[in-house]
Amino acid sequence: MKILLVGSGGREHALAWKISQSPLVTDLVCAPGNPGIGKVAQLRAVKADDVDGLVALAREMAADLVVVGPEAALEKGLADKLARANIPCFGPTQAAARLETSKAFAKAFMERHDIPSAGYGVYETLGEARQALDVFRPPYVIKADGLAAGKGVAISPDRADAEAEVERMLGGRFGQAGARVVIEEFMDGEEGSLFALTDGHRALLFGGAQDHKRAYDGDMGPNTGGMGAYTPAPVFDHGLVETARERIVEPTLKGMAKEGSPYRGVLYAGLMATADGPKVVEFNARFGDPECQVLMMRLASDIVPYLKACAEGDLGRLPEPKFLNQTAICVVMAAKGYPDSPLEGSIIRGADQDFGPHVQVFHAGTTRKPDGSLAAAGGRVLNVCALGDDIGQARERAYAAVRAIDWPGGFNRTDIGWRALER
Ligand code: AMP
Ligand code: GLY
Repeated sequence: MKILLVGSGGREHALAWKISQSPLVTDLVCAPGNPGIGKVAQLRAVKADDVDGLVALAREMAADLVVVGPEAALEKGLADKLARANIPCFGPTQAAARLETSKAFAKAFMERHDIPSAGYGVYETLGEARQALDVFRPPYVIKADGLAAGKGVAISPDRADAEAEVERMLGGRFGQAGARVVIEEFMDGEEGSLFALTDGHRALLFGGAQDHKRAYDGDMGPNTGGMGAYTPAPVFDHGLVETARERIVEPTLKGMAKEGSPYRGVLYAGLMATADGPKVVEFNARFGDPECQVLMMRLASDIVPYLKACAEGDLGRLPEPKFLNQTAICVVMAAKGYPDSPLEGSIIRGADQDFGPHVQVFHAGTTRKPDGSLAAAGGRVLNVCALGDDIGQARERAYAAVRAIDWPGGFNRTDIGWRALER
């Protein structure tokens, strides 16, 4: 099989690492990839959101399957164009990806299908939003409708702050993505990410993970794309997962199919475990980053048959995927200044040494200089992942590797997995 993988982050390096281990794969090409991915796949310089370029590349290499990592190309209709070219795609169509790309769509969809989530309203003018703030209670949850690189959500402790936030969003801070704002009821509880693979009709649960969204230890500092993750997440006990399957995952897939946009690929449900059971915080149309990295570390089954079956609509013939009975953790190493203004170009030493069988270092924003040295070229730069018999052992192994990487220009959280350790 020839596979084209789209993306260039740590998520895609983890996918490439896992896909490249499959005996079914003869060719693995990644566009655009990164230096780490370059060790297990052939790289092609097509951008991850260049839909026409990606379709042309898939045609040229006669791809049997395209696996899409990030959401940008999905929003632009990559899956739709590949379907017209008869090339199977792991990833939803533009219409189905609206579960992620439009929060207003996702909220209305959940309301139509009675899927548990926070109460909400959608507003296009400051006047309407101000009136709504009179009705909602603090803390106020305010979101830009469209994609805003994970930065379009504000939680405001008081009314004045909330109003200022609404003004900034409607005033164009996120461009078109903020033309409408969603105001939501605040949900209290522990958060986790649940993944399901789906061919549009059938779903197989694919594990749960917990991410750490704030930049600094103790969940302080600005929101980021994610500073670390681990799986399994103790918050997802059997009862919660079964409730989420019945009340969230299955009704979502049935609802999308019924509305004419069957959802194929991986459904990422960001959930809050509230006193009233799991509720949806958000949907994403892709694997989480860094959640994907820890899922790939623990996945014992060959991933390729699953990716292919999701794309081709015959997931029903596959058994539940198998995961190692171990804990996997990922510590993100980011460039100093991330998330606001990460410093580029600093030299990283020791990232590509052999850390033994329990540790993998996945590259995200890295680049290779002409002299062969590795340098930072983005916000999140390395993902140091480890397996262990429990969270404590996994964490020790990951942090030992972090300490062995010599990168004065980077920083990382030192408390990844604290919730699971405290249990
Ligand atoms: P989102 O981009 O929608 O996932 O929101 C980013 C973060 O804001 C989430 O991971 C939650 O921690 C928090 N959040 C979003 N919506 C709510 C809500 N209704 N209640 C409580 N926290 C929320
Ligand atoms: N780690 C959060 C995300 O991928 O959206």
